[in-house]
Amino acid sequence: MKVIKEISSIQDISDYYRYTGKKTALVPTMGFLHPGHTSLMLKAKDENDIVTVSIFVNPTQFGKNEDYSKYPRDFQRDYHICEKAGVDYIFNPDVNEMYGDNNLTTVSLSSITDKLEGKIRPGHFTGVATVVTKLLNAVKPAYLYLGQKDAQQNAVLKKMIIDLNIDTEVRICPTLREESGLAMSSRNTYLTPEQKDKASVLYFILNEGKRMILDEKTGDINSVKDRIRKIFSSKAPEFELQYYEITDNINLEPINDLNLYKGEVLISVACRADTTRLIDNVIFHKE
Ligand code: PAJ
Repeated sequence: MKVIKEISSIQDISDYYRYTGKKTALVPTMGFLHPGHTSLMLKAKDENDIVTVSIFVNPTQFGKNEDYSKYPRDFQRDYHICEKAGVDYIFNPDVNEMYGDNNLTTVSLSSITDKLEGKIRPGHFTGVATVVTKLLNAVKPAYLYLGQKDAQQNAVLKKMIIDLNIDTEVRICPTLREESGLAMSSRNTYLTPEQKDKASVLYFILNEGKRMILDEKTGDINSVKDRIRKIFSSKAPEFELQYYEITDNINLEPINDLNLYKGEVLISVACRADTTRLIDNVIFHKE
């Protein structure tokens, strides 16, 4: 496994593999890797000849008062995790290599980025779309592996790839969870043991919502949301529920009448445990 710091080097390597007909994959990450990340690497390795993992804590997707400087980092640990997973290249540029000192270009999408996470974190998805475009132009992978954990990020990146004619196919892998149901996340390290226990409430209310829709055949999303809010505040009064939305999984528009809707339903949730934000989702077919 090789660690590459320069864009021009990873581009030369990628060109070589593309021209020799190898199947190439990119798993973009911000490091502090956990088994959720590893599952993407293993799937990518299983389906491709050459896997690159990018490790880059991208400053432009963090808001002013967010956790960019305290975001957990441990390159040595990440290196061993990647090596064990059979990764071929780690692309680990520094901030100056990625943005220089006079970056004037951003990639931003309208409407799809205004809701859910985008509403609470203005500018976040412009940072994500910009850095992923830059990573795709550096690594030039045939396949991009993403986790279901970040459903809105996936919808944004899929749309961006279509709109900008980027020659990469997206593959979404399932969310890996702790035994309690809590979705694995680098940010879980911020939680106290008590908060971590309590945080399983997110997966619980996602499944409750799914049950109300599929088993009880509740058609009215407002009634589902009202009941869920009550369950949440009785189970985790110390957490703040930021949103619980029931939408389609492409444009992320609310589904007003669930009984009339066919297709994939996305339930997304976000809460705050003290200063730590947690997000999760479930996706299922209505029929
Ligand atoms: P990061 O949070 O490090 O996540 C990297 C990838 O791992 C994302 O596709 C995310 O959905 C996936 N992932 C995270 N937790 C997971 C879990 N529990 N199970 C399965 N997959 C999981 O997402 C980012 O970084 C950044 O925004 C990035 C795309 C790298 C751009 O900077």
